[in-house]
Amino acid sequence: MSFHMKNRPARRAFQAAFVSLFALVASVAHAEWALNMTEGVSILSKEIYGLHMEIFWWCVGIGVVVFGVMIYSLIKFRKSQGAQADTKLVHSTKVEIVWTVIPIMILVAMAVPTARGLIKIEDMGDVALNIKVTGYQWKWEYEYLNHGVSFFSTLKADSNAARQLGSGVDPATVPNYLLDVDNVLVIPAGTKIRFLLTAQDVIHAWWVPAFGMKKDAIPGYVNEIWVQVDADKIGTYRGQCAELCGQDHAFLPIVVEVKSPADYDVWLRAKQADQKLAGTASPTAVIPQ
Ligand code: CU
Repeated sequence: MSFHMKNRPARRAFQAAFVSLFALVASVAHAEWALNMTEGVSILSKEIYGLHMEIFWWCVGIGVVVFGVMIYSLIKFRKSQGAQADTKLVHSTKVEIVWTVIPIMILVAMAVPTARGLIKIEDMGDVALNIKVTGYQWKWEYEYLNHGVSFFSTLKADSNAARQLGSGVDPATVPNYLLDVDNVLVIPAGTKIRFLLTAQDVIHAWWVPAFGMKKDAIPGYVNEIWVQVDADKIGTYRGQCAELCGQDHAFLPIVVEVKSPADYDVWLRAKQADQKLAGTASPTAVIPQ
């Protein structure tokens, strides 16, 4: 097929298609080519990202070698160049050993850091703070074990009002529509925290992508994950329930505020005093609906 176009409308159509393709590529470029997995802000999220990149480059290397040999062979030994099939070569033990040993070595090279990462994920040693997370239809409960603090976290009232059918509220006017909660989870940066995940009714899943960890919250079971956010990554991180848990599953956001240890202590003390006054320090009493 020739790209030389004598006919003007066809050339215009081609130019228009080219311009729109360029615009598409440019807009993707504008989003910083955000095609890759994100690095996250915790020790484990970085470990997982590092593993992902390592395996990715292995795959790139294998792809380059395999396709390189294939494309070279297609061009060099094509029929039009007079290539003849070699009917003598039916078996080569040497070649078979090479193409078995090399992949095994690559798989072992991938398996070692992967196993190390999996062990690290399960290592609950040196935990400084335990937070029990309980999923409900449709709220989260956070209990700071042995610290006398517990509270529920639900979709913020303005989002909840705007989402009702016929509410007349334009969601565009609600800040962080469907992403904010009434009571955010507050944790200290640079501290190893264990989250004990469970649920009271159906299966939920507690997921904050920036932390790199996600596990189901299952009634009658306690799953655990640990998170240690880098000391310099103070800020707000958002997540969602990641297990379809009923009609309001889409309205079960997670907001985590990571504070410096000093600011966290101030927050904790204020919250403890607050809950003592309100007499709600016992978390298992009544579940507000
Ligand atoms: Cu859910």
